Amino acid sequence: MYFLETPRLILRDWKDSDSRIFIEMNHDKNVMEFFPSLLTEEETFAMIERIKKFIAENNFGLWAAERKDTKEFIGFVGLSIPRFQADFTPCVEIGWRLAHKHWGYGFATEAANACLDYGFNILKLNEIVSFTSVLNIKSMNVMKKIGMHYVKDFEHPNIEDEDRLKRHVLYRKRKL
Ligand SMILES: CC(C)(COP(=O)(O)OP(=O)(O)OC[C@H]1O[C@@H](n2cnc3c(N)ncnc32)[C@H](O)[C@@H]1OP(=O)(O)O)[C@@H](O)C(=O)NCCC(=O)NCCS
Repeated sequence: MYFLETPRLILRDWKDSDSRIFIEMNHDKNVMEFFPSLLTEEETFAMIERIKKFIAENNFGLWAAERKDTKEFIGFVGLSIPRFQADFTPCVEIGWRLAHKHWGYGFATEAANACLDYGFNILKLNEIVSFTSVLNIKSMNVMKKIGMHYVKDFEHPNIEDEDRLKRHVLYRKRKL
């Protein structure tokens, strides 16, 4: 079953066959450059279970993205609810993580636009946020390309004070 379709992608529930690629992604230094650490196989399986449970309960989530042309699983793009507390939570966040070989084709932006549309028109959200490390230029570029606006910098509460990833940017898009 799939939730969303774009010209080149489908966004769907996770399949067992996605796990192997997602384990590799979470162990790839390129993909994980702006996360505190690489994930072990066990951590990735736990993350997949959390994502699947969230989708089943909420009818949205971090969907598995699949290329229509090759049928490959390329990572996730979707909506989620951050689990940490900040002055902008509770909120719905849009997020993405693609396997390195699928960067540079516009897939994240294409999928994210469809997710915003789903969030505003199906889920009837009034606003959607996104955040990332101030160092993560590629992710910020996606935010800008999908029409989000910079709100502010903030210190991520779950990251150690001295960590290079502590400082984050918050972007937001409001329903038109
Ligand atoms: C963030 C991330 C998803 C961005 O991926 P991406 O492929 O750069 O993003 P897009 O889908 O918007 O693609 C844009 C690129 O595709 C190129 N492109 C090629 N064909 C395109 C097309 N048909 N349409 C649009 N862009 C196209 C653009 O020129 C741009 O290239 P550039 O970055 O060299 O300028 C990716 O870097 C990633 O998965 N990072 C690791 C996970 C991560 O950090 N997630 C965010 C944490 S909060």
